[in-house]
Amino acid sequence: MLAVSFAAARRPRIACADEWELGRETYLSRCARCHGEDGSDTSYPDIRPLKGIGKRLTRDQIRARLHLKAVGPKLVLIRGETFTAAEVEALISYVAEL
Ligand code: HEC
Repeated sequence: MLAVSFAAARRPRIACADEWELGRETYLSRCARCHGEDGSDTSYPDIRPLKGIGKRLTRDQIRARLHLKAVGPKLVLIRGETFTAAEVEALISYVAEL
């Protein structure tokens, strides 16, 4: 529970809800086709379940596994698609809670 209270302490509650919503929309529209809506789909080749990933990996470890590549001050690429830095942070928060 240490990680949860640390995250909560750093972000105001409203921002948290907005971030969760952004993370959810981004995940469902751009990640769920391979990982499944709840992160448990493993039918895509070489894929591991995202469900429970927040229990085995830290945010930085999850970030490292996204294969991020900066394409500008605010845009990053994941698997050839472009995301804003805010979308990436929201995605990491959302995926860590799957
Ligand atoms: C085209 C299918 C595909 C899409 C779309 C996709 N992924 Fe993946 N993802 C994979 C595969 C395959 C792996 C395992 C191999 C690897 O890491 O490249 C993976 C691995 C991961 C891992 C590491 C899991 C672990 O246990 O190490 C994370 C985190 C992840 N994906 C998050 C995302 C997020 C967030 C998105 C949406 C932006 C996304 N993925 C979109 C196919 C996909």
